[in-house]
Amino acid sequence: MRTKIVAGNWKMNKNLEETEALLSELSAKLPNTHAEVIVAPTYVNLALAQRNLQASSIKVAAQNMHFAENGAYTGEISADMLLNIHVDTVILGHSERRAYFGEDDELLAKKVNTALDKDMTIIFCFGEELEERKSGNHFSVVESQLKNALFHLDASAWKNIVLAYEPVWAIGTGETASPEQAQEMHAFIRKTISEAYNTEVADEVSILYGGSVKPGNAADIFGKPDVDGGLIGGASLKADDFIAIIKAI
Ligand code: 13P
Repeated sequence: MRTKIVAGNWKMNKNLEETEALLSELSAKLPNTHAEVIVAPTYVNLALAQRNLQASSIKVAAQNMHFAENGAYTGEISADMLLNIHVDTVILGHSERRAYFGEDDELLAKKVNTALDKDMTIIFCFGEELEERKSGNHFSVVESQLKNALFHLDASAWKNIVLAYEPVWAIGTGETASPEQAQEMHAFIRKTISEAYNTEVADEVSILYGGSVKPGNAADIFGKPDVDGGLIGGASLKADDFIAIIKAI
């Protein structure tokens, strides 16, 4: 059975007090769920989040990390720094990192290797841009993103990988992929992994959908057989909306 996951990517939002408030509200209102619930606050509030959620089943993830062990990388954060504050899950490859910070497949492969060397769990994001979908290239774009950053891994490494398909045209735009479009792509991703590895790896990996998931559309998207949950941006910043999305799974 694949793990169902609802993860909130808070991006560059919420100061210290707002983070504390949202964490308390989420902990208080968290419903009983079979799904794993994860939040990814900004770096400066990660240690606080980890401390405040100690008694909760909500897990904490980082939004990014560097591939190097340590050293002269001003502004960067290492895997060991995350593990030191008991954060063992990291989002890598988000389209905003790719678009605004020049992260390419080659760099992401290095980050993936480091995270796996440290036995961390990776939420690996990828997805096509609007032009790529319009021109019918979305399947080949997604296939090459996966291949270039992940397909050098051994099959055994995939137990630490969660995939998050996030079509760029659906992120923060209010326009979401239809449940059918999400299912079509998720099934394609699973088939691609099955061909590169085997059906066991493909059947076990959780594939999340991300891009304008809201309380009103979550149940339909999560209802599709190859959609194992969601990576939520804007709607994860409001406790009631995030809780409603968790209930939808
Ligand atoms: P939105 O839910 O705001 O569209 O963001 C999705 C996302 O980028 C999650 O990583």
